Amino acid sequence: MKLKKENLIGQGNTAEIYRIEDQRIVKLFRTSLNEAAIIQEYNNNLHIQKILRCVPRAFEMISVNDRKGIVYQEVHGTSMLKLMLTHLFTMNEYSKDLARTHANIHRPVPPDIKSVKELLSSQISHNNILSAEDTEFIQRYLQTLPDGNSLCHMDFHPGNLMLKEEDVYILDWMTAGYGDECADVARTSLIMRYGNVEHLPGFVRLLISLVQRHIHKIYLKEYLSITGHTKQEIEQWELPIAAARLCEWISQKEKNKLVELIEARCAGLS
Ligand SMILES: Nc1ncnc2c1ncn2[C@@H]1O[C@H](COP(=O)(O)OP(=O)(O)O)[C@@H](O)[C@H]1O
Ligand SMILES: [Mg+2]
Repeated sequence: MKLKKENLIGQGNTAEIYRIEDQRIVKLFRTSLNEAAIIQEYNNNLHIQKILRCVPRAFEMISVNDRKGIVYQEVHGTSMLKLMLTHLFTMNEYSKDLARTHANIHRPVPPDIKSVKELLSSQISHNNILSAEDTEFIQRYLQTLPDGNSLCHMDFHPGNLMLKEEDVYILDWMTAGYGDECADVARTSLIMRYGNVEHLPGFVRLLISLVQRHIHKIYLKEYLSITGHTKQEIEQWELPIAAARLCEWISQKEKNKLVELIEARCAGLS
C-alpha cells in the first residue's frame, strides 16, 4: 500500500493517520512503539466495537514500509479538543458532554480484555524512576483498591473523541481494560491536570494548558453528579495511576510533577 502525504489527516503521540479508499483510514504507528501494544489496540477494538456503537470499526492489521498499521472505518468528524479550542464559548457544554460520554461507556463488560489492575501493576513494575521501596508500597496499595468490572478506556480525553453532528466516536483503545470506573476517571483527571500534547505547535500547547484545568473542573463535577461517585473514590486511584504513567512517553516536566504527587501520597499513607 502506498500512502501519500496529502492524505495525512491526523496525528497523535503514537501514530499518523492516512485516509485510504472506501471510507477507511490507516493508523500508521511510529516505529518506536512495540508491536505487542499495536496488537493490543487491534484486539481491544475488535472486542469493544461489539459492545459500543460509538467505536470506529477496525478491519485489519497491515505493514507499510516496515511500519505497522491498523485499518479503521473513517469518522467524518472533528476532535472534541479542536472544537473546544476553536469555540471557547462552548467549552463548558463540551466538558459536560465529555463527562456524560465517559459515564455512558462505564458499563459491565466480560473479561475479554485485560484487567485495569493487571495493566497498572505491570506498568508500575517497569518504572525506573521510583525507589524499589516506593514501587513495592504502591503495588501493595493497588491490591487494596476495588476490582470492578466496568469498561475503562484509560486514555479518555477530548483529543480521543470525535464529534459528527449529534454522534460521538471514541478512538484509541490501546490501553483499555475492565475494572473500577473510578480508575478511568482518575486517569482522565491526571491527564487534564498535568498532561501536555507533544506534537502540537507551541501556541496550541499553551492554549491547551490554560484551558484544561477549567475543562477538568466542569468534567469532574458533572461526572460525580451523574454517577453519585465521590471525589475520594476517584482520588484513591491517583497514586497507582500516576506511578503507571511514569513509563509512558511524557515530558520530563510532567514526570517531575507526577513524582511530587506520588511522594506526597506515599508519605500521607505510610
Ligand atoms: N477512524 C478515524 N477517522 C478519522 N480520523 C481519525 C480516526 N482515527 C484517528 N483520527 C484522527 O487522528 C488523530 C489521532 O488519532 P489517535 O487514534 O488518537 O492516535 P494516537 O493513538 O497517536 O493518539 C485523531 O485525533 C483524529 O483527528
Ligand atoms: Mg489519541
